[in-house]
Amino acid sequence: MADNRHHVQNGNGNGLTAILGAGSLGRLWAALLPTGTTAFIPRQHDPEENKPDVTYRFQGRHGRQYPVTIPSLDWTTQHPDALIVTTKAGDTLSALEAILPNLKPTVPVVLFQNGMGSQQAVAERWPDRPIMAASTTEGANRPDNNTTVHAGQGETWVGGLTHSASPLVTNVVNQLEASGLVIHEEPEILKRLWSKLIINAGINPYTAILDCTNGDILDAPLFRDTIRQLCLELAEVMHLEGLPPRSPDDMQSQIEAVARNTAKNTSSMCSDVRRGKPTEIDYINGYIVSRARAHNLPAPVNQMLTKRVKLRTTKPHEPQSDTPGAI
Ligand SMILES: NC(=O)c1ccc[n+]([C@@H]2O[C@H](COP(=O)([O-])OP(=O)(O)OC[C@H]3O[C@@H](n4cnc5c(N)ncnc54)[C@H](OP(=O)(O)O)[C@@H]3O)[C@@H](O)[C@H]2O)c1
Repeated sequence: MADNRHHVQNGNGNGLTAILGAGSLGRLWAALLPTGTTAFIPRQHDPEENKPDVTYRFQGRHGRQYPVTIPSLDWTTQHPDALIVTTKAGDTLSALEAILPNLKPTVPVVLFQNGMGSQQAVAERWPDRPIMAASTTEGANRPDNNTTVHAGQGETWVGGLTHSASPLVTNVVNQLEASGLVIHEEPEILKRLWSKLIINAGINPYTAILDCTNGDILDAPLFRDTIRQLCLELAEVMHLEGLPPRSPDDMQSQIEAVARNTAKNTSSMCSDVRRGKPTEIDYINGYIVSRARAHNLPAPVNQMLTKRVKLRTTKPHEPQSDTPGAI
């Protein structure tokens, strides 16, 4: 199916979604939302400059491939009804600093970053804007520059982080549902982000350090020797952060079950290390370390994993072909 997306809507209630971050997840949303309702916001916003369209092949869940062309947002004529932010956690604040002055202060901003810390930084920086966070188990990757693959079917939860966001969550959920993906309103989005953080903290750093798929961590001595203590640290920090109690045993069982169920997947962190790209470790295990520190607690396993992942990213690696999933 040829897909010409040049007739993009003007917004103002028509459901125009602007996407900041034309990577795997941004391209997934752009491909699945209805034709003509999305536009990418280019990296360096310059209203005078003509930005090229983003063109790629999209492979859906059933293997069907089709070409997609998404235009760049024209700030002079288009007014997004929502902004979804699909940059990596470490890029998010600076990316938004560059573009938010152009966006009406009432437009919802939906943050899709994994981990924790970047969402709070954005909500604190713009407390009067409707800032939302999303947690998704959808998986997308780019096996090459021209192809985006919907690698794992999941679900997405959206909830408000700032006061003015809450009344707008339903509208945003309706707007995103036009993609055909499963989207839920989540009144307790921080709790949900923590649930995903537990899984990410218990799988991603091990795969990145051991350079292996999710399933291969389960028998590795590094994992077996430290996972119990990692879960104890998570439970303590969550308790001190005022979250509902979670038993370390339950967390460990859940981490191991996800590693088993996604045994053949390569985590995004392992993939980032292999490609020599910055990882999101500061927003996963590094976030646990910083919250532990705020409560005068040590978090030695999270600290050791953070340090070892960072050591891996300072060394060059051969690019490898892999299939990162949603973890
Ligand atoms: N992929 C998934 O399946 C998935 C699932 C759940 C959650 N997530 C989360 O979603 C976020 C994005 O993941 P991803 O896999 O899509 O990462 P990605 O492929 O690296 O995409 C991030 C994109 O953001 C762009 N970007 C960075 N700074 C920018 C700026 N200042 N202005 C405009 N664009 C900018 C990057 O451009 P360059 O390439 O030029 O740097 C890149 O295209 C991460 O936090 C990830 O953990 C991803």
